[in-house]
Amino acid sequence: MSYPPWTSVSEAAALLASGHIVAIPTETVYGLAGNALDPLALAKIFAAKGRPVFDPLIVHIADINSLDNVAQDIPEAAYTLARTFWPGPLTMVLPKKPCIPDLATSGLSTVAVRLPQHPIAQDIIRQAEVPLAAPSANLFKHVSPTTAEHVADQLGSKIDGIVDGGPCSVGVESTIISFQNEIPVILRPGAITPLMIESVIGKVILKNSTSNPGEAMLSPGTMDTHYQPHIPLYYGDLPKGYVLPSNTVRLAFGNTVSNIPASLNLSETGNLTEATANLYAFMHKLDVEPNRFILVDPIPNEGLGIALNDRLKRASIKRL
Ligand code: TXA
Ligand code: MG
Repeated sequence: MSYPPWTSVSEAAALLASGHIVAIPTETVYGLAGNALDPLALAKIFAAKGRPVFDPLIVHIADINSLDNVAQDIPEAAYTLARTFWPGPLTMVLPKKPCIPDLATSGLSTVAVRLPQHPIAQDIIRQAEVPLAAPSANLFKHVSPTTAEHVADQLGSKIDGIVDGGPCSVGVESTIISFQNEIPVILRPGAITPLMIESVIGKVILKNSTSNPGEAMLSPGTMDTHYQPHIPLYYGDLPKGYVLPSNTVRLAFGNTVSNIPASLNLSETGNLTEATANLYAFMHKLDVEPNRFILVDPIPNEGLGIALNDRLKRASIKRL
């Protein structure tokens, strides 16, 4: 096989149906897919990413009717969200059907399910004729891929195929909502915002798993350091008098005033959708020598900005 293993949609579907693992485009980020019903394929996904098996995978389906094949005891609110936001960047955590292997859910009794909007993702799932487990197609703890080239750089020699569907339109991972409590809990913010969800099903709780850089950790030991570039990135106020290393680059947002020139601007007009679509690609671009430090402008913590703040806090070094 030649590397990177570029693959067509029909080849990808055939590879997936026969137990191989293939990176596929979705509207959020690229996913590393395998047959969700095949424990061997799931094991290959964990191995290729270097991901610990206690971190469960999202199961992707191609139509709403398939939800009942992978989940059970589904509350009415979940169907309502599915009808409103699927296909799209929303993942729902629901009680799992016995057909879903423990490896997919890390032994949990629940399964995370999503119906992606990207037409290529839908075609591949339909042609493979199985639900596809797919974590983001990056090495464990690294920045998620929003182009096929990002996947090729990180995983090109470790997987059986990559389908190029162009840059991802959303740019951050899906919103995850759990129905395990009486009031649904948003476990990970994404493009489907808490307000959008509340306008359809009423009150939800937004789990706050990240503390601000420089602040005491909310729960020590549980700090999530996903999404980190190799070069230290800092998101937060700089301590007074702090001297930045030479070769500091600034990832700007809008027209923030700074004495460090902007290397890249997530969105010159301060548009959160544009900034989200650019975030990971720009993190990949700045994560190169001779850069020594990446400083990111503040982003308003509202709407889609909630997901941006979540990802940037996780990507940030925690103290200077
Ligand atoms: O947008 C996305 O969701 C992308 C694309 C490829 O669909 N996928 C993605 O997968 O971001 P991953 O594996 O990088 O993140 C999945 C998250 C993990 O944080 C995992 O802990 C959580 O989903 N998760 C999966 N199953 C769960 C469950 N049963 N209960 C709670 N959290 C779960
Ligand atoms: Mg991930």
